[in-house]
Amino acid sequence: MKLSIYRYDPERDARPYMQDYEVKLDSHDRMLLDALVKAKVQDDSLSFRRSCREGVCGSDAFNINGKNGLACVTKIAELPEHVTLRPLPGLPVIRDLIVDMTQFFKQYHSVMPYVINNDPPPERERLQSPQDREELNGLYECILCACCSTSCPSFWWNPDKFVGPAGLLQAYRFLADTRDQATAERLDNLEDPYRLFRCHTIMNCVDSCPKHLNPTQAIGKIKEMMVRRAV
Ligand code: SF4
Ligand code: SF4
Ligand code: FES
Repeated sequence: MKLSIYRYDPERDARPYMQDYEVKLDSHDRMLLDALVKAKVQDDSLSFRRSCREGVCGSDAFNINGKNGLACVTKIAELPEHVTLRPLPGLPVIRDLIVDMTQFFKQYHSVMPYVINNDPPPERERLQSPQDREELNGLYECILCACCSTSCPSFWWNPDKFVGPAGLLQAYRFLADTRDQATAERLDNLEDPYRLFRCHTIMNCVDSCPKHLNPTQAIGKIKEMMVRRAV
């Protein structure tokens, strides 16, 4: 398999460049991450993040042949023989395939991603009905890999002002939670020309989510809640 990989060490390189690697695959090499690890064995200066290799930690998100995805769940069998790997678009590069996620997590934290409930805690837990719990399906599974936000043109142009699809999916995850009491505060926090309304329903986010989540739908539901409370 041939890999062309984006290389850039700001301390050594005047500018980024692409480096080619030929890796010999064994029968147990199933996922793109296996091939990438082989390239790293050849050249230990190559840098990238990875941890769980199971599509759970969200750390090995890259731009793979022009589309964002997780290397550990991208099947080699479904790729062409020549694969180009670049860092996630729109975020500053720290080194090679490693990007600075500070802005992404700043936006995530800005939506208060936790249940707010000022009632005294019950002895064991705050219960939900099975129906109420079902509302959280398709929302809680997000692994914060940033594939969606870094494929969104609105986030590329305004990463400091537009929350982005990942943060907005989480904003809705807590708006939809029947245990949460901060609905008005959450909507106030998003009522702004940029934070929510910069989403133009381009749907790159849906296309790139490795967990098959639908941030566009969640964003639509937040917009509906905004409209409903205005009338
Ligand atoms: S639907 Fe909205 S959030 Fe998703 S990529 Fe498009 S503009 Fe970005
Ligand atoms: S919504 Fe999907 S693509 Fe976006 S951060 Fe969560 S898991 Fe990743
Ligand atoms: S290594 Fe954890 S999601 Fe790929």
